[in-house]
Amino acid sequence: MVITEKKLILITGSTDGIGYQAAIELAKLGHQVIIHGRNREKAVSTMNKVQETTKSNQLNFVYADLGSLAQIREMVNKFYEHYDRLDLLINNAGVIRQKRTVNQYGLEETFAINYLAPFYLTNLLLDLLENGRPSRVVNVVSRVHSNHFDFDNLQWKKGYTAVKAYAKSKTALILFTYLLAEKLQSKGITVNCLHPGRINTKLLHAAFQAGGEPVIKGARKLVYVGTSPELKDVTGKYFVNNRISSSTKITYNKEVQETLWKRTEEILKSALEVH
Ligand SMILES: NC(=O)c1ccc[n+]([C@@H]2O[C@H](COP(=O)([O-])OP(=O)(O)OC[C@H]3O[C@@H](n4cnc5c(N)ncnc54)[C@H](OP(=O)(O)O)[C@@H]3O)[C@@H](O)[C@H]2O)c1
Repeated sequence: MVITEKKLILITGSTDGIGYQAAIELAKLGHQVIIHGRNREKAVSTMNKVQETTKSNQLNFVYADLGSLAQIREMVNKFYEHYDRLDLLINNAGVIRQKRTVNQYGLEETFAINYLAPFYLTNLLLDLLENGRPSRVVNVVSRVHSNHFDFDNLQWKKGYTAVKAYAKSKTALILFTYLLAEKLQSKGITVNCLHPGRINTKLLHAAFQAGGEPVIKGARKLVYVGTSPELKDVTGKYFVNNRISSSTKITYNKEVQETLWKRTEEILKSALEVH
């Protein structure tokens, strides 16, 4: 099916797993899809694979290691040089790390890649999203998130486990989704998040040494929340299986949302000052 309303879509982490399959599905629907990869080589080779599969001539690519704030900024600058709007941003890239690792900013990597990167990227792209309105932001989160949030241990200097760090990063991304949705309510940009299901990808294998459902099932959920017309005015929601669902109680706590936002700005400011 080729659609008439062609959207300009950026999907982070579209070189593998759910994001890669979502890029294929969206390109097949006739959308203009921008593939994001951690480096140029990976982004280009993935774009070529998507092109071969879909025969789309509407593809492009961008690249940045999402652990690097400098690379995110550079990628966004290039984006602004090429495009004057963005209709849909899917913050899909994610990791789970068996051991605590820190990046060049001294930031724990799960938190940096799964949460700080989408926070920073989305805020940098807001002008383009405004130009694309009605536009959408979709954050890929997980059912694996928590009902508590310890601000004193954001960098996991104590008690690190892969699943706890992953769950906290997704809790942060949900808290961000709800507050951003509220901030953008009057601007014609919706912000939602979704759990893609237990999907057979390298991330799932790394996390639970187990398989899941085919990637197409996860990818179609991104396509649904990102493009379905009936969700055009729906914002600040958490989707599971294409239905509005409830995340943990703490994620709706306004004070926690606002404190996290403020702390995030401080973390980004000091990381950017040092580098
Ligand atoms: N699979 C599941 O069951 C499941 C369940 C709940 C939520 N999720 C979420 O779904 C999203 C997609 O995950 P997936 O399961 O499809 O995993 P995946 O197959 O491992 O794909 C993750 C994508 O993120 C990219 N990425 C990771 N770190 C990056 C970095 N530093 N810079 C740039 N790109 C980076 C990967 O790039 P490379 O190809 O270079 O590694 C890849 O394209 C994640 O947010 C994950 O948390 C997955």
